[in-house]
Amino acid sequence: MRRKIAAGNWKMNKTPQEAKALIQELLPLVDSDEVDVIFCVPFIDIPVAIELLKGSRISVGAQNMHFEDKGAFTGEISAKMLYESGVEYVIIGHSERRQYFAETDETVNKKILKAFETELIPIVCCGETLEQREAGITLEWIKGQIKGAFAGVCKENAAQTIIAYEPIWAIGTGKVATKEQAEEVCRFIRETICELYDQETADKIRILYGGSVTGDSANELFSMDDIDGGLVGGASLKADFGRIVHYNK
Ligand code: 13P
Repeated sequence: MRRKIAAGNWKMNKTPQEAKALIQELLPLVDSDEVDVIFCVPFIDIPVAIELLKGSRISVGAQNMHFEDKGAFTGEISAKMLYESGVEYVIIGHSERRQYFAETDETVNKKILKAFETELIPIVCCGETLEQREAGITLEWIKGQIKGAFAGVCKENAAQTIIAYEPIWAIGTGKVATKEQAEEVCRFIRETICELYDQETADKIRILYGGSVTGDSANELFSMDDIDGGLVGGASLKADFGRIVHYNK
């Protein structure tokens, strides 16, 4: 049985002081022994998050990292810096990074390899635009993103990776994919992993849905066979995240 995940992607929200207040508000609402809960916070909020979440079951994730170890990369953060700060997970290849910061399948792949080398678990994002969906090329596009992301990733690491399927048209739009649309792509991703590795790896890997998930939609989405939880933006900054974590209650 795959454990479900409720991961919050805070994006560029919350100063350290605001982060402290939000974590204090959310802490009693998101404790669960069934669901793995992850807060992916801005870099500057990592120390306060680590401090406040010490002794809890909630893990801290980052939202990006560089694939090089160190050097002249002004403004970047290395995997080791994150690891040493107590971070366990890192979002790689979010569509906003692909769209605004020139992230490609190639840089995504390099970052995944570096994350594993540093004992960070990558949360790898993929997803199609509305134009691609309407043109009927969603599955083909997703397959390309998954193949590109996993190049050179060994079977053991692949099984530990978390994939987030986030249709771009559903992100921050309030337009959540139907459970059937989300399940179709998540199942296809699992089949692609089976093709690239084997059934055992496909059965182990956790695949999340992301895009306008709320406390109202989490239950029906997370109850689908191939959806192992969610990567949540807006609703992770509110008490509603507690309802998402406890989606089956
Ligand atoms: P929203 O939940 O705000 O649509 O954001 C989804 C997302 O991009 C999570 O990474």
